Amino acid sequence: MKAIILSGGKGTRLRPLTYTGAKQLVPVANKPILWYGIESIVAAGITEIGIIISPETGGEVQSKTGNGDRFGAQITYIKQEQPLGLAHAVKVAQPFLGDSPFVMYLGDNLVQSELDLFLDKFKSQHLDALTLLCEVENPSAFGVAKVDSDGNVLELIEKPKNPPSNLALVGVYLFSPEIHHAIANIQPSARGELEITDAIQYLIDKQKSVASFQLSGWWLDTGKKDDLLAANQIILDTCLELTIEGAIDEPSKISGRVHIGKGSQIINSMIRGPVTIGDNCQITNCFIGPYSSIADNTTLIDIDLEHSVILQGATLEGINDRIVDSLVGERAHLKAAPQRPKALRFMVGDDSTIELT
Ligand code: DAU
Repeated sequence: MKAIILSGGKGTRLRPLTYTGAKQLVPVANKPILWYGIESIVAAGITEIGIIISPETGGEVQSKTGNGDRFGAQITYIKQEQPLGLAHAVKVAQPFLGDSPFVMYLGDNLVQSELDLFLDKFKSQHLDALTLLCEVENPSAFGVAKVDSDGNVLELIEKPKNPPSNLALVGVYLFSPEIHHAIANIQPSARGELEITDAIQYLIDKQKSVASFQLSGWWLDTGKKDDLLAANQIILDTCLELTIEGAIDEPSKISGRVHIGKGSQIINSMIRGPVTIGDNCQITNCFIGPYSSIADNTTLIDIDLEHSVILQGATLEGINDRIVDSLVGERAHLKAAPQRPKALRFMVGDDSTIELT
């Protein structure tokens, strides 16, 4: 059994963060989303992993993630020249996959459940495809499945206007080599992509064995800001332990589950967990409230913040109002004007969102 993780694509939904970086590397609780997928695959005993990368962000994915040693896996990077669809990515990975059955994992998805359960069902029932499904409130944003009472998939539709159910396709799939034949026989969809849903539909139409597994745990597709904040909250709630490696001065107070990384300094501040703070951060005169993740090398001075994600190297200084539900990009600089401004001066990049409330 092998695995591929799709970490290419354009990632336009997290703009402007992902103009410059891969959305799969955006951290959740200070760990790239992609790494959760790798860890889950390795935990299921699969160590031969191919990662699909794009020419634009592939270098960054590769240099950050490495050859797999840190995960106990062998990682092969597979370049997809253009984001022509999930099934196209499988096509590009075919030389790596050979005749092996495989797990396909979307690099921007976070799934709570362990893969073992799905693998057991896939193997014991000799399936050609196993899809994971999860009930959602907005099925039109996903691939949607119509299933019979035994969990057999009857029909799959990609982002339907009138969804036949509220069961969305989760971004984890298991396939036998039959899928390559299906992909060779489908055409690009109206949005110009070779859709994996169409390839699975092809298997269904040819009476191949396609089944589904309904997830009971949580699943998050982290393409958007609010999804990312929700993922951050869940991971901090479930996976964080109290670990203090940095220095905390006498007036500062730490309560709840808090991680403070090496070389970080907490000065005259209150940190109320769950909160994770990376390495080499400087936190001075701040209140950092629950569900905040602050990445390495950030500086926060006179800041009141909660339920937010601050990426590497950002500086936030002297903002008198509480910052909530926010996502601040790498090396961003937020600074209050010394006096209440009479006029607002902006330099705002394409597709940015700024809410003055
Ligand atoms: O998240 C689950 C959904 O993922 C499913 O419900 C849908 O059926 C499935 O089509 C997919 O929809 P998205 O629109 O969310 O896919 P997205 O374009 O965001 O791509 C998912 C991941 O695959 C992401 O990490 C980027 C990567 N990718 C995408 C394309 C189109 C590639 O590596 N190559 C590609 O060509």
